Amino acid sequence: MREALAALLHGVSRADLARRSAAITALYRAGRGSDVAIADRLDALAYAVARMPATCAAVAEALRRLREAAPDLAPASLLDLGCGAGAATRAARQAFASLTEARLIDRNPAMLDLARELAAADGLAVEARRAGLDEAAGEADLVTLAYVLVESPVAEAAKIACAAFARARAALVLVEPGTPAGFERLRVARAALIEAGAHLAAPCPHALACPVAAPDWRHFSVRVQRSRDHLATKRAEVPYEDEPFMYLALTRAPVAPEGARILARPRRDRTGVALRLCDADGALRDLVIPARDREATRHARRLDEGDVFTPR
Ligand SMILES: C[S@@+](CC[C@H](N)C(=O)[O-])C[C@H]1O[C@@H](n2cnc3c(N)ncnc32)[C@H](O)[C@@H]1O
Repeated sequence: MREALAALLHGVSRADLARRSAAITALYRAGRGSDVAIADRLDALAYAVARMPATCAAVAEALRRLREAAPDLAPASLLDLGCGAGAATRAARQAFASLTEARLIDRNPAMLDLARELAAADGLAVEARRAGLDEAAGEADLVTLAYVLVESPVAEAAKIACAAFARARAALVLVEPGTPAGFERLRVARAALIEAGAHLAAPCPHALACPVAAPDWRHFSVRVQRSRDHLATKRAEVPYEDEPFMYLALTRAPVAPEGARILARPRRDRTGVALRLCDADGALRDLVIPARDREATRHARRLDEGDVFTPR
């Protein structure tokens, strides 16, 4: 993706990109959607350079968890709803060698044009269509909805998520920013999708009520190395950024239960390992594994936030 993007940036002023990126960030932070924030090709390029590496990495992490829970999943087709510049398509292509076709849907023409170009440079046969989520036609084995619910009111999250699930022959993956607004939409979508018959593959180890009750919320985090263009566009100096995100991976067929989910970075010290878990019985639990329990501690020290925990 870096090479494909770099080719599209030929002749584009990095100072202009940085200015556009800052303006886009300010609009997103003020709660405005991409329809306001992304007005033309330069905006779409600024989004792609500044945000796409992180959104792509977050979707890749959600897809990795989906694959862990449903290892036999081999989708041939993808429907990327609210595709933007095609971050989820890119992540899905890398996660599933089985993927042969992708349909990308977005109402923003500048984003869609860029998605079409980037996916073509990626060697994937794509159909990119300008449309609203409510008009997106057809089904696919895998459907993605990444960083899209947050652009609609919470009251619409259930309807949008269930419509996306209706198009998913095998699996649906929702990814949202790791913010209270993102979590709230996923909480609402989760309840509606369970009601609609979806099976939770990850991260939830159960289909009971979410124990992270409002106003509490959670996020996971994924680290992204910054390219030179990324550093320049974000006027950043640190060579990496941590993207906070939350996700739901759902399947049409039931998946075998895996174990409890680790919700936060484990605390490791001389006394042992402390894990914050969401358990299969629907409760949150703090588990401390004492250092004297050597086998269990060795196992727990290898685990990180987002991993599944099964006692040893
Ligand atoms: C923040 S961007 C995320 C893009 C991409 N999925 C990603 O993860 O980088 C949200 C995208 O969803 C699109 N979108 C939001 N609501 C939509 C709707 N109702 N119909 C079609 N597209 C929509 C926007 O145009 C925008 O391109």
